[in-house]
Amino acid sequence: MKKVIDKINDLVKDKFEKYGYDRKYGFVTVSNRPDLCQFQCNGALAAAKEYKKSPRDIANDVLSEIKDIQIFQDISIAGPGFININITDDFLTNYINNIYSDKKLGITESQNPMTIMIDYGGANVAKPLHVGHLRPAIIGESLKRTSRYLGHRVIGDVHLGDWGLQMGMVISEVKRRNPDLPYFDENFNGEYPEEAPFTIDELEEIYPAASKLAKSNGDAMKEAREATSKLQKGNRGYLALWKHILNVSVKDLKKNYSDLNVEFDLWKGESDCQQYIDEMIGYLKDNNYTEESEGTLVIDVAKEDDNQPMPPFMVLKSDGSTLYSTTDLATIWERVKDYSPDEIIYVVDKRQGLHFEQVFRCAKKTKIVDENLKFYFLSNGTINGKDGKPFKTRDGGVMRLRTLIDTITNHVRNKLKNNNSLSSEEMNDIAKKVGLSALKFGDLSNQITKDYIFDMAKFSSFEGKTGPYILYTVVRIKSILRKVDVDKTSDIINPHSDIERDLMLSLSKFNEVVESAFIDKAPNKMCEYIYEVANQFNKFYHNTKMITEENMEKKMSWINLSNLTKDVLETGLDLLGIEAPDRM
Ligand code: ARG
Repeated sequence: MKKVIDKINDLVKDKFEKYGYDRKYGFVTVSNRPDLCQFQCNGALAAAKEYKKSPRDIANDVLSEIKDIQIFQDISIAGPGFININITDDFLTNYINNIYSDKKLGITESQNPMTIMIDYGGANVAKPLHVGHLRPAIIGESLKRTSRYLGHRVIGDVHLGDWGLQMGMVISEVKRRNPDLPYFDENFNGEYPEEAPFTIDELEEIYPAASKLAKSNGDAMKEAREATSKLQKGNRGYLALWKHILNVSVKDLKKNYSDLNVEFDLWKGESDCQQYIDEMIGYLKDNNYTEESEGTLVIDVAKEDDNQPMPPFMVLKSDGSTLYSTTDLATIWERVKDYSPDEIIYVVDKRQGLHFEQVFRCAKKTKIVDENLKFYFLSNGTINGKDGKPFKTRDGGVMRLRTLIDTITNHVRNKLKNNNSLSSEEMNDIAKKVGLSALKFGDLSNQITKDYIFDMAKFSSFEGKTGPYILYTVVRIKSILRKVDVDKTSDIINPHSDIERDLMLSLSKFNEVVESAFIDKAPNKMCEYIYEVANQFNKFYHNTKMITEENMEKKMSWINLSNLTKDVLETGLDLLGIEAPDRM
């Protein structure tokens, strides 16, 4: 469906053009003084310079024609030449009915769908997810859902860290503990055991122990490096053990991400591109992109207008081993081959900005990707504690994501406690949904790049701009709908009050908001919007005696309007990766 704002723009621009002014001056926006009007056109002020005429005269030129436009009412000129515009209730109501009967709520799917790959999550095998993994996961998930809703082909990839030094650390630690395992016997030719030699709990203890040891003990670090290199060179026993680490860890990661309502289409990792590395390096060398520098193989990615030094892109270390940069470049190689994406979006912590700048430049310079492929690095800010520093446990350690989720879920469960008509199973499900809404909305309502302070009391409040407040509104509507059956065949009729009209106006903007959240890659716009809708609805609810209304036409219209509000809120929440319970 054409967006309301686009319809209005086209009509007003036509009128400007008719009077010999450039169309662009007929640009209309949502009013920033909703108390005065719904939409406004400020173009006469901008046009004044070009046409050497007073803005009021220009506004007056077009005014009578704009007044004649059927879908407008109460057009006036304000101040030096602003044109205030309102749409008729007939138009608004008709539009709302069209959204209501459209299964995509007024969204037109893209005519030229793109293939978009989103690289998010970024978990590392054998290491538990910590607080820092929350943002890339939920931001990426929201971008994925939003792009998909608009009809694009979207592929989400977790891109596991499964090939680096941490693998060597774990392998050498397992060897220290169980040197007799067949994986370490160079002469072993048989089948390796099917069962992993550790559980997930053991694995979660092995990695931190190994990492701590390697940091303080040079020999242990050397062993870890050697193990990594042996693995990367394809040692049979090490590969078999590595597969166990991968399986045990990924099973657990899948559960953790699914508890967060985050789903990946691909569970690939750094190791998956290994098969392309030789081919890629051959290509880079043959085309003279590489140079040797102190034994390493590099590619110069600096540009003349750089105002900061840009270190060369590292392809190989002096011992011939690959790096994080190599696997990221080879992963692009693989993605182009398998999916030919139009865009690749990375949602990763802001500290990796330089790395990605180098990777993108290198991929373009070496023509591994086409000139038109768009790369985006969405650098997310950190989650901070009240002291403004990255969020930690009480004793200053890194907080596990599980702990964070459990803490907020328990906090919410205590607040919900007094509803004793619900079974404990239902209560758990509700607490989980409300807790996640608090966490995710609290996060996504911030701009991606900004740091924010994790404030549990604020995030989980049932009032204000929070996830629980939106869920509460949805639950309120669901409870109304349990009392009155919806008859979808009866229409929503013209609004009876300003409050009702405001709600309808907000609902009419849903398609516009989804698009702008997509274009600007800004889930916070959706947060802002559903908060506005929830607020409008609650005002309407307090102002309207829906259930006892005797005029059936009115009553059904209100019920349908409530039902539409629920659909808009639930769809908006879904695009943020948030689910609402039926009761709370
Ligand atoms: N595993 C990485 C880390 O923990 C993040 C991966 C981000 N994605 C990528 N393609 N490099 O830092």
